[in-house]
Amino acid sequence: MLEIKNLNTGYDKKQVVFNVSMNVLQGEIVSLIGPNSAGKSTILKAICGLIPSWSGEIAFNSKKMNGNEPPENLKLGISFCPQGNRVFDELTVRENLEIGGYILKKDKTSQRIHEVLEIFPALKDRIKQTAGSLSGGEQQMLAVARALIPEPKLLLLDEPSLGLAPNLVKELFDKFIELNKKLGITILIVEQKVREVLAISNRVYSLKLGKVAYEGRSGDLLSNKEELKTLFL
Ligand SMILES: Nc1ncnc2c1ncn2[C@@H]1O[C@H](COP(=O)(O)OP(=O)(O)OP(=O)(O)O)[C@@H](O)[C@H]1O
Ligand SMILES: [Mg+2]
Repeated sequence: MLEIKNLNTGYDKKQVVFNVSMNVLQGEIVSLIGPNSAGKSTILKAICGLIPSWSGEIAFNSKKMNGNEPPENLKLGISFCPQGNRVFDELTVRENLEIGGYILKKDKTSQRIHEVLEIFPALKDRIKQTAGSLSGGEQQMLAVARALIPEPKLLLLDEPSLGLAPNLVKELFDKFIELNKKLGITILIVEQKVREVLAISNRVYSLKLGKVAYEGRSGDLLSNKEELKTLFL
């Protein structure tokens, strides 16, 4: 579904991603792990078009997509949930969800909000509250819910568990399994909660200093303590 070949990118003149090749097959959950500043978020930003790729190729369903602006990629079916609590505090839950539908017609957005609230019933009870009055966990659910409004085929998640207590991490990750299994949404997820994300993903890429340091099946890495340790040294 998603194929990245020899991607090089960065900010201004500073290169942070070096010759990265990776792919995500339809129906998979793929995790992207690695130490701080390895370039994980940068790769997600390059995929959705928030930053340009310097060279290499990014293709979605065999169609080259480097150079696309984020709304074009959203229309193709790629939705991005960025790192940190990116909800609009002053706006209500509903208004936050409406923003998620900015590429859709109004009727379609309303229909999608209705459908997405079925997946996140806790948000349904809070629909008129401002996002700032939600707990951290609820805000993270809202950020994911907003990314689902355009009905994506591929969901890019950047550290969704950031700041969440262990029981909420489990709840959120269970949701991802549900999205993947029940709705058929393919997921590429960046995480620091390594064991937890390996437990829900099919395959994993680990980045180190902007390069792929490991790729393989999540289960294999989960049972390889030595390898796991070296990846984060
Ligand atoms: N907007 C920016 N302008 C300049 N440099 C940036 C920018 N964003 C990130 N960088 C740099 O690029 C490198 C990779 O950052 P990136 O955010 O991709 O890392 P990461 O793997 O997501 O780390 P973390 O786990 O801390 O989120 C870092 O050295 C960072 O300082
Ligand atoms: Mg990051």
